[in-house]
Amino acid sequence: NEIYLQGLAGTTPAFTTDATGLEAAAEKVLEPGPFSYVAGAAGSGATARANRAAFDRWKIVPRMLTDATHRDLATTVLGTPMPAPLALAPVGVQTIVHPDGELATARAAAALGVPMILSTAASSTIEDVAAANGDGPRWFQLYWPGDNDVCASILARAKKEGYTALVVTLDTWTLAWRPGDLDQAYLPFLHGDGVAVPFSDPVFRARLEKPPEDDPASAILRWISMVTGTDKAWAQLPFLREHWDGPIVLKGIQHPDDARRAVDAGMDGIVVSNHGGRQVDGALGSLDALPGVVAAVGGRTEVLFDSGVRTGADMIKALALGADAVLLGRPYLYGLAHGGEDGVRHVLRSLLADFDLTLGLSGHRTVAELGAADLVRT
Ligand code: FNR
Repeated sequence: NEIYLQGLAGTTPAFTTDATGLEAAAEKVLEPGPFSYVAGAAGSGATARANRAAFDRWKIVPRMLTDATHRDLATTVLGTPMPAPLALAPVGVQTIVHPDGELATARAAAALGVPMILSTAASSTIEDVAAANGDGPRWFQLYWPGDNDVCASILARAKKEGYTALVVTLDTWTLAWRPGDLDQAYLPFLHGDGVAVPFSDPVFRARLEKPPEDDPASAILRWISMVTGTDKAWAQLPFLREHWDGPIVLKGIQHPDDARRAVDAGMDGIVVSNHGGRQVDGALGSLDALPGVVAAVGGRTEVLFDSGVRTGADMIKALALGADAVLLGRPYLYGLAHGGEDGVRHVLRSLLADFDLTLGLSGHRTVAELGAADLVRT
């Protein structure tokens, strides 16, 4: 209402409310390196395109005369009450797009009660982001270090600072072939404020010959070597359980068999995700993976979804196909690039308003009413 009323008064928003225009708007304010890092994808970009194509194939079938005047979007996921089934996906090194980086994101998310997921590759510390996020809901994303002591130290810090759920990203045990970054020789960890989460960790620092402040390049290489490699296996998940007493979620699941394994391993949730098309070029669209995964888990664990969500209609499609909540990636980074905290708020408010209106106009009052019968595949 507020956004419409501003329009009636002739006040235009600070920047576009058109989700599909955000990327172009961000390109105008960002240097080529950061823009390409955020907007880019792996290889030929086939998976990023597949993410959008999958959304376009599914269509909503609206219902009439359902009295959807008053709607309640609220839900609870991973034990966290949320105003809508939406959380901010973990995105690292946010100071490359705006000097306030994750702190601005944390404030905007808290203002709207939307959970944020702090990345291990964040450019602000676990503690500073918690302070900026205040009473807001927050979860922590783990890039799983091979060094168990470093891992345990980071988890203990996150737990102490009120991050309630742990999101373990499995699909990025090494960085994919990303021509946009390679062509510009752009390594984001060397820009903005770098990777403050490991750099501020006492156990990680003790592993270094020189402090990161004196030799950031060596510290970054050490960090990268710690979080890359193929030695992680399903059998090691109990280590995380021992060091985290809240919900644990595996991010990057696409195959129904992996979803079943996550259930068997006692995981509290999974995120169906292909990292926004940034890892396996040629992988299936994330929304195309969702129905098979939902069927495989059969309600035994919570299912979150990301990769390609841009509009309220996209949220409805993912929820109708069985997701309990969706994560938003690049769009909020574009908002951050444009206007810091206000920019993230603008993007979130626009998406939530779009979701609310589209849900109601489709004939629904609550998220729980959505189901596969509300969609057709074309
Ligand atoms: C990411 N993503 C990501 N994921 C993660 O688990 N840890 C991280 O540090 C990052 N960093 C990151 C940086 C940038 C610039 C982007 C665009 C993405 C992946 C992210 O959490 C999410 O899976 C995708 O962004 C979802 O796709 P969309 O919404 O961007 O299409």
